[in-house]
Order: sequence, then structure tokens, then C-alpha cells
Amino acid sequence: MSASMINIQQISKKYATITALDAVTLEVHQQEFFGLLGPNGAGKTTLMNLLVGYHNPDSGTITIDGDNVTQDSLEIRKRIGFVPQSLALYDELTGQENLEVFGKMFDIPRKMLMEQIQEQLHAVELYDRRKDKTKTYSGGMKRRLNIIASLLHDPKVLLCDEPTVGVDPQSRNAIFEFLISLNKQGKTIIYTTHYMEEAERLCTRIGIIDHGKIIALGATDKLLEQLTYEETIAIIKNPSTEENKKIFEKYGALVEEDDHFELKPVKRFLLSEFFADIEKQGMQYSWIELHRPTLEALFLQLTGRRLRD
Ligand SMILES: Nc1ncnc2c1ncn2[C@@H]1O[C@H](COP(=O)(O)OP(=O)(O)OP(=O)(O)O)[C@@H](O)[C@H]1O
Ligand SMILES: [Mg+2]
Repeated sequence: MSASMINIQQISKKYATITALDAVTLEVHQQEFFGLLGPNGAGKTTLMNLLVGYHNPDSGTITIDGDNVTQDSLEIRKRIGFVPQSLALYDELTGQENLEVFGKMFDIPRKMLMEQIQEQLHAVELYDRRKDKTKTYSGGMKRRLNIIASLLHDPKVLLCDEPTVGVDPQSRNAIFEFLISLNKQGKTIIYTTHYMEEAERLCTRIGIIDHGKIIALGATDKLLEQLTYEETIAIIKNPSTEENKKIFEKYGALVEEDDHFELKPVKRFLLSEFFADIEKQGMQYSWIELHRPTLEALFLQLTGRRLRD
């Protein structure tokens, strides 16, 4: 097992009567891409704010790379890049100027800062827009700028708090690719989201948080194995599939819905065999969908609720 980078022990935090975090214990290893998943109000942002030292917890300890996080410590802040949930940019400044403001907060020597800014702008394809005011940027461009603003001091750890909210699919992909490359270069990443599919795609290990408590923790694929239900195959009804539904019954339990059949396999079989079999019968099918177990289903199983309202 690789070395621990972030160690969170028994962290609790209340706001007046609301318990935002309740004895959270969590370890994130060096160069891990860790996903923190949970619905609105679960406590994700609160945990991020404690990690950067914006607030002190009511109880518990956090260490980053071996040292205690204390409120407003610049030493700790330098180890962390924080991409906040709400955009933190000055609309009236250009992209370049915004980055200079961020760089100054970390006392980066001017020459190094200018090199960093140029390199990072290229990395997220914003270099050509660097002299435009950020109020003219698209949502995705602002997000990308916000991400690189957190990287200028070359932190070991990157905290991303829902960095793809309000971003179009193409920009979203560009952000994913960028984060994956940062992780490969050695950065430890904590990524919060309530999009399960993002977590499944990006994160090798995941913690699910609900009402301030960690309710599941582990490798993404191991978590999915806990699920008691299997894959389903949906087969759209047409005269040919209706006539041949006996074939499906060889593979599992068949439930008939309005416009499709739902096949729940009784045991694992090769899809290639299944397709060969139905093609041998000359069955005409327009489409077949596979439903794999998802983290969404895991959340539902653990809480009885859906992750997104
Ligand atoms: N400054 C604050 N004052 C009072 N209550 C707060 C404050 N910040 C957060 N809370 C409460 O603490 C709980 C956790 O909030 P938090 O912002 O950490 O959740 P989250 O998981 O980030 O949610 P979201 O997905 O909506 O961003 C919520 O009940 C929230 O209302
Ligand atoms: Mg939040």
C-alpha cells in the first residue's frame, strides 16, 4: 500500500444545530484519485474547507503529508490546490490577470509565476484567450481557469469541489483528461461530486458520505461487487423478439414490460454466446441495453434514497 498523504481522524463539525460532519475517518494515499461522493448537504464542502484550514473542526485531527492542518497555516495551504465549488474569479480582470492575483497569494517569485501561468494556460487551451476579461468566458472556460489558478504554486494535493457543475460535455471531457494527466504526474486528488458516473470514470477509490458520515469506503470495483443485484439486459419488443422470448428464458428470469423485456441473468454468461444464440434464430432486434450495477444503485441500497433529487 502506498504512503498516506491525507489522514483524517474522527473529524466532527457542527454549524449551530446542524451536524455537518460526524466522526469522519478517512485516509487518502499518495497519488490516489479519490472520489468523495454524496448528495446535497452531505458535508463534502465542509470537509474540503477543513482540509485547507478555512475552519477548525470541533474535534478530530487532519494531517497532510505528515503535518497537522491548523487554521490559516500558509505552510499547509502551499501543499494544497483548492478548486472551490463556487467560482472564485474577478469578472473584470483578464484570465492572465486573475492568475497573477492567485499567484501573489502564494508568494511565487515573479519569473516563476509568469512561466507557470503561460504553461498552465496552454495546458487547458486558454492561452489564446488570456487577454480577454473572464466575464466573456464560457462556463467551461471559467472552470478551467479556476482549476489552473489552484495549481500555480505546484501543490502536492488537489481538491476539486464539483468542478464540472454547469459545464458542457466537451469541456467536461477536457477537464477530466487534464485531471487524469495531473494525477499521472504525481498529484494526489480528492474529487467531490454527486455524479456517480464521473466518480466511476475517474476515481480508483471512493468514499460515500451521507448526513456527515462515511457510509461506504473502498476501491470502486470492490464497492460495486457488494451489490446484491446483477446486471440486467433490456430487449426492445418487436414481433421477432416476442416470438422468440423462450430463448431469453434460457439465460435468466424474464420480466415483461410495456415495450421491452427485462432479462435478469441467473448466472454469468458470455454476451457473445447470447448474441450468437439469438442471431442463430434469425431474431430481428433493434436494440438491446445492458445495465451494469452502478454506484447510484449502491447508494440506493445503503440509504433507501436516490443520490440526486
Ligand atoms: N456556513 C454554514 N452555516 C450553517 N450551515 C452550514 C454552513 N455550511 C454548510 N452548512 C450545512 O452543513 C451541511 C453540509 O453542507 P456542505 O456544504 O458541506 O454539503 P455538500 O455535501 O457540499 O453539499 P452540496 O452537494 O450541496 O455542495 C448542510 O446541512 C449545510 O446546510
Ligand atoms: Mg458542496
